[in-house]
Amino acid sequence: METSSNYSPGLEGIVAGRTTISEIDEARSSLMFRGYDIRDLATKSTYEETAFLLLNGRLPDAAELAAFESRLKAERGVPGEVIDLLGKIPAHAHSMDVLRTGISLVGLFDPEEWDGSHDANIRKAERIIAKMPTLVALGYRLPHRMKPVEPRDDLPHAANFLYMLLDKEPDGPKGRIFDSSMIIYAEHEYNASSFAAHVTVSTLSDIYSGITAAVGTLKGPLHGGANEEVMKMLIDIGEGDKAEKWVMDRLGRKEKIMGFGHRVYKHGDSRAPILKEASKEVCEFDGYCHWHEIAVKVEEVVKREKGLLPNVDFFTASIYYLMGLPIETFTPVFAMARAAGWCAHVIEQLDDNRLIRPASEYVGQRGLVYKPVGER
Ligand SMILES: CC(C)(COP(=O)(O)OP(=O)(O)OC[C@H]1O[C@@H](n2cnc3c(N)ncnc32)[C@H](O)[C@@H]1OP(=O)(O)O)[C@@H](O)C(=O)NCCC(=O)NCCS
Repeated sequence: METSSNYSPGLEGIVAGRTTISEIDEARSSLMFRGYDIRDLATKSTYEETAFLLLNGRLPDAAELAAFESRLKAERGVPGEVIDLLGKIPAHAHSMDVLRTGISLVGLFDPEEWDGSHDANIRKAERIIAKMPTLVALGYRLPHRMKPVEPRDDLPHAANFLYMLLDKEPDGPKGRIFDSSMIIYAEHEYNASSFAAHVTVSTLSDIYSGITAAVGTLKGPLHGGANEEVMKMLIDIGEGDKAEKWVMDRLGRKEKIMGFGHRVYKHGDSRAPILKEASKEVCEFDGYCHWHEIAVKVEEVVKREKGLLPNVDFFTASIYYLMGLPIETFTPVFAMARAAGWCAHVIEQLDDNRLIRPASEYVGQRGLVYKPVGER
C-alpha cells in the first residue's frame, strides 16, 4: 500500500500555523510572549497586563492598563439566568465540565456573539477573560450547594478569583504567587486546546464556540488535566520516604508519571523552575512543606530513572493545594488563565483565516461489494 510521506501521528513536528503570540525555544528551554521572556512576565508583570499584551500585541501604557483593568472588573458578573442554570447542575459534576457548559451559556447572552469582526472579538475576549474566574468559582460552589460569592471590584483579577472561590482574601504572598501562576498558564503556542480553538473558528464559527472547544480539549489528563492527577499522586504517595518505591512501581508497570514530559520541551519545561520556586515560597510562608517535599522527591526519582523533567502542571499542584483550592478546580484554573492565550489565538486565526482541514491517509479496505442486509 502506498503511504503518504508527510503523515505525522499526533501532528508531531508539523508546522500548522504562523503566530506572533508566543515562541518556544526548545534548545534554550525558553518561552516568550510577544517577544517578552516568561521569566520577566511571571515575576514583574500582572495577569491583567499580560492579558493585554497577548490580546493587543504590545504592553499597555499606564492609562491603557488602568482602563483595561476597569473594563475587566465591570465584566466580572454573569447573567442571573446563568447562575440559575448552573445551580441545577448535579453535585457530582466535575468543575471542568461545569466551566465548559458555563462559558457556552454565557455566549448566549453576549449581544455580539455573532459579530466576528476584529474589534468585536477583542471586546468579547475581554468579557471572556473577565467572566471565566467567576464561572470557575460558581462552577465549584453551586454544584456543591455553597452560596455564590459576588466578585469584588477592589481586588485584582487573581485575588478576586481566590476570594470568590474560597470566600476569603489570600494572605501573605499567595495572591501574587497565584497571579504569577496564571501568567505562566496564560499562553503556550500551538498546544492541543489552542489548536482546537483555531480549528473551531476557522469555519467562521464564533469565539465562544472556540473557547468552549478549547475548555473541552484542555480537560484531558495528557493536557491540562495533569495538574489534578499530580495532586492525587502526591496524596496517594502520602510520605516523602514512600515516593521512591511508588514511582519505581509505576515505571516498572510502564505507567506514566503525571506532570512529567512534554511534546515540545525535551530539555525541560521553561515554566517548571519558576513554579518550583513558587511552591517553595508558599510552603515556607505556611510553615508546611510536606507536599512540596514529596514533589521534589518524585522529581528526583523520575529524572534519575527516565531523564524526564517536570512540566508546567507538576508544581502548580502543591501550590494550589496549599492555597486551599479543591483539586477539581485545578484544571479550570488553568483554563481561566489560558483564556487570554486562547482568545489571542482565535483573533489571530480570524484576522487571516483559512479553513483548517488536513488530509488523512486511508488504510481501510477497498472495492467491497454491497449486499442488502438480508443477504449478509
Ligand atoms: C505530555 C506527553 C503527552 C507528551 O507526550 P509525547 O510527546 O506524545 O511523548 P510520548 O508519550 O510518546 O513519550 C515518549 C517516551 O517518554 C515516555 N514518557 C513520556 N512522558 C512520560 C511520563 N510522564 N512518565 C513516564 N514516561 C513518560 C513515554 O513512555 C515514551 O517512552 P517509550 O519511548 O519508551 O515508549 C507525555 O509526556 C505525557 O503523557 N506526560 C504525562 C501527562 C502530563 O503531564 N501532561 C501535561 C503536559 S504539559
